[in-house]
Amino acid sequence: MTISAPGKLMLFGEHAVVYGYPCIVTAISERLEVAIAQADDMPKDRRFVDAAIQAWGGGKNLKLSTKSAFSGKYGFGSSSAVTVATLKALKPDADNRKVFDAAYKIILNIQGVGSGFDVAAAIYGGTLYFVTGGKVIEPLAVSDMPLVVGYTGVKADTKTLIADVAGKRAKEAEKVDRIFKAIGKIVDEAKIKMLEGDWERVGRLMDFDQDYLRDLGVSSEKLEAMIKAAKGAGAYGAKLSGAGGGDCMIALASLDKRKAVEEAVTRAGGEVVHVAPNAEGVRVEP
Ligand code: PMV
Repeated sequence: MTISAPGKLMLFGEHAVVYGYPCIVTAISERLEVAIAQADDMPKDRRFVDAAIQAWGGGKNLKLSTKSAFSGKYGFGSSSAVTVATLKALKPDADNRKVFDAAYKIILNIQGVGSGFDVAAAIYGGTLYFVTGGKVIEPLAVSDMPLVVGYTGVKADTKTLIADVAGKRAKEAEKVDRIFKAIGKIVDEAKIKMLEGDWERVGRLMDFDQDYLRDLGVSSEKLEAMIKAAKGAGAYGAKLSGAGGGDCMIALASLDKRKAVEEAVTRAGGEVVHVAPNAEGVRVEP
């Protein structure tokens, strides 16, 4: 049996979501596959797969192979996708909530931190309004999101960036909490405007979110250069996506500006990654 799960891109609300605020995440067209069969050996080198087998494999001898359409370098969430796909392969009938709780537990055990937004994207797919730990997982009927994605060439270290923000909050609690609250408000408006398809306003909201992320200290020169280039070429707005420090930036651009925005991102030293948002969640492959 082969199961696949999509990667993800954070659209709004990163970092604040670790502290109980909402975020918006979209599942992307790049998928990761797990094939499973009875066998005598078990791969020992795959922490997430092994932890999933330990949780749901019932001690069976299972042979697993994984195949990913996306490189781990982009920060598209390969760990959560592989965890979700493996759990689903072990118990295809488990409902989404059960898979979420088990996968999130595994991710927390191995990584120590995280809101679980990436796990939710891998399971449910589409575009989700998500609150920390899956307190809210609300699918948003969004269509035709004109998304441009650019990779910085720098691998982000999510754990360190989360720790940096925690350090900043320990020193400047009031300021950082004010930023989180403001980001939460942006996320709530973005949800409404995305449902309306008002991409111009959603782009502005991306700019506001990016201002706060810069204040939090998680942007980088490269991210800023690519964001500036995208906006200079006519994007509605742009921001970093995920923990920051590197990985990807995202922009929204109308169809007629798309090519110019992609070229500007490339000129700024970025690598344009062609992925479609709103992809289907975990599924059994035929
Ligand atoms: O670096 P990524 O793409 O895994 O995104 C991390 C987003 C954070 O909000 C910083 C952490 C989280 O788990 O929500």
